[in-house]
Amino acid sequence: MAEHPAYPVGLRLSGRRVVVLGGGQVAQRRLPALVAAGADVLLVSPGATPSVEAMADAGEITWVRRPYEDGDLADAWYALIATSDPVANAVASAEAERHRVWCVRADDADAATAWTPATGHSAGVTVAVLTTDARGRDPRHTAAIRDAVVEGLRDGTLVAPHHRTRTPGVALVGGGPGDPDLITVRGRRLLAEADVVIADRLGPRDLLAELPPHVEVIDAAKIPYGRAMAQEAINDALVQHARQGKSVVRLKGGDPFVFGRGMEEVQALAEAGIPCTVVPGISSSIAVPGAAGIPVTHRGVAHEFTVVSGHVAPDDERSLVDWPALARLTGTLVVLMGVDKIGQIAETLVAHGRSPDTPVALVQEGTTAAQRRVDATLATVAGTVRAADVKPPAVIVIGEVVAVGRPAAG
Ligand SMILES: C[S@@+](CC[C@H](N)C(=O)[O-])C[C@H]1O[C@@H](n2cnc3c(N)ncnc32)[C@H](O)[C@@H]1O
Repeated sequence: MAEHPAYPVGLRLSGRRVVVLGGGQVAQRRLPALVAAGADVLLVSPGATPSVEAMADAGEITWVRRPYEDGDLADAWYALIATSDPVANAVASAEAERHRVWCVRADDADAATAWTPATGHSAGVTVAVLTTDARGRDPRHTAAIRDAVVEGLRDGTLVAPHHRTRTPGVALVGGGPGDPDLITVRGRRLLAEADVVIADRLGPRDLLAELPPHVEVIDAAKIPYGRAMAQEAINDALVQHARQGKSVVRLKGGDPFVFGRGMEEVQALAEAGIPCTVVPGISSSIAVPGAAGIPVTHRGVAHEFTVVSGHVAPDDERSLVDWPALARLTGTLVVLMGVDKIGQIAETLVAHGRSPDTPVALVQEGTTAAQRRVDATLATVAGTVRAADVKPPAVIVIGEVVAVGRPAAG
């Protein structure tokens, strides 16, 4: 049987009976894909791992708690034989052969009539890698090839132009806090497919250097806006480039909807009738404290965290923040865009009841090579910011979580 290469095929298992014999690690690894394919899975096994049991409890598979019996495979379209008893496996495989049911053998690939390829998914395609014969099977090698292909498609180093399903219009992509590894897989793929990228100053700027030369990269801060507002000029640029039939990525720092004005861009595109895809990003409000060793919540310390913009002072009439109410909270406050106003913010919090000893940390340029953390308290933070010359961008964390995980002084 092993003289010829395997014939690759995609089984459409929706609603079709698949019998799995054995509820151990092999079943645990294979069942999710069978369930995702819509198969009507019957598991026959006296025992199962907790994850497999959970799938049965959730109704994703049917579990018959007994050893394999002759006849179990009669109605199957496909079978996975993975019990710990080689004799039962051989008997079941003979039954599969009698009923002409394609079957995978976990214990003996040579005796199987089907092999499971190493699979991965990217951008609507499944990559499946098989070795050509059972004797040459090297699962680690096939998995490595699968990983190389999937990873290459995801990060754009393997370029496979779309001819039918290129994402039209504009993708509003949250690029994460700065480390190029912290963009989502989807964001990175869309970036690799873009004709035009309009990028902010914050976010994963290093990724721009990797783009092929034909991609037009526009610095959002440098779009001339004449009599219009800067944001209107950005909205216009998005609309103009998309109208030329180009794939446009609007690359933003963090998440597009956390102080990112993302919705204004979505609305402008909707008004212009241009399709827009929003790709969430990892927000600096959580990731930057985390990168500096500060959890925004911690059991027994903080049961809430509040993310606030500090771009206007607490007494500024444009401020929409109820600072006295925030001062009464006991949880964590995360302040973005607050370096310039931190003195007034700290004063207001103390004036309305927060202890002056409340720990504060400022994390500048988080997740990048230039990341640094400066610690203070509400009483000292204004002076510390000046003395340490803390500059934006920085995330300011106020609350007892700052002290969690901080090495004890001395
Ligand atoms: C206009 S807001 C955008 C926030 C972004 N949409 C997000 O979800 O992270 C910009 C502020 O985010 C914070 N910020 C963003 N990236 C940062 C980083 N890498 N390190 C420190 N602060 C950062 C700073 O407070 C900065 O002033």
